[in-house]
Amino acid sequence: MKKILVTGSVGQIGSELTMDLRRIYGSDNVVAGGNRTMPSDEFRDSGPFEIVDCTDIKGVAKIVKKYKIDTVLHLAAILSAVAEAKPNVAWNVNINGLYNVLEVARESKCAVFVPSSIGAFGPTTPLNDTPQDTIQRPNTMYGVTKVAGELLCDYYYKRFGVDTRGVRYPGIISNVTLPGGGTTDYAVEIYYEAIKNKKYTCYLGAGTFLDMMYMPDAIKAAIDLMEADPGKLKHRNAFNVTAMSFDPEIIAAEIKKHIPQFTMDYKVDPVRQAIAESWPNNMDDTAARQEWGWKPEFKLPEMTKDMIDVLSKKLK
Ligand code: SER
Repeated sequence: MKKILVTGSVGQIGSELTMDLRRIYGSDNVVAGGNRTMPSDEFRDSGPFEIVDCTDIKGVAKIVKKYKIDTVLHLAAILSAVAEAKPNVAWNVNINGLYNVLEVARESKCAVFVPSSIGAFGPTTPLNDTPQDTIQRPNTMYGVTKVAGELLCDYYYKRFGVDTRGVRYPGIISNVTLPGGGTTDYAVEIYYEAIKNKKYTCYLGAGTFLDMMYMPDAIKAAIDLMEADPGKLKHRNAFNVTAMSFDPEIIAAEIKKHIPQFTMDYKVDPVRQAIAESWPNNMDDTAARQEWGWKPEFKLPEMTKDMIDVLSKKLK
């Protein structure tokens, strides 16, 4: 990775990944691509920023040529709950947008990182210790686009030699930019509400276990995979990666250790509950550990301490 383009750079993952990439690879070598949401001044001033709409192939190609990009981290995507509300938009961004990025990468010989998700699994997938290679019959538009995306990336590698790589991210917990319309967002909101109001009403029910990861590990996963020796990668485009698995009761109990007055009640949202129930309780990420040395640093206790420290200052 020498000249990098990040699409969706203003989003939850992009906003932090872009800054880390700039620290590692040099500010001028990391082009931040954004579309609808404008970046903060600090973010925009930290290096090149360009409007990049992945559904506009000419626009993507123009930026890739302008900066002589060799690696695209394609983060622009619609998350699961929004995808259920607007399936046409999700299809256009997640499928047509990805196709455009892969086409430009083929022409300009770029490597491409594309996040897949726990959403690429479905109700007939084994829910516990979900294997790397298993049944993938998701019943959400988000899941359909993610499975198709994994296959499309494999296809571009095998057919055209495009160096595509990717991970199946779990819910990502962070404190810089809020996630936009996912099913796992509760695990971020709960920290903000615990600090602001000492209470939280959870839209997923008790006992709903999902894989989760703290942002520093999510960033490490993307960079380590892109820097990995390609000769060792058998599962290029869809490595299961996880750091922890919990349900709302467990995260609430962990928060209570720091904020004893914290209370949580439930108002279950049937749409997001059904999505969550169709996803794994916990994935097996042995392939990522073996093929490129994946090893997360944060478990629930360390993450909770850090989230509360950072957010207590930020929300003061
Ligand atoms: N965090 C995502 C979502 O909930 C899962 O990939 O949609």
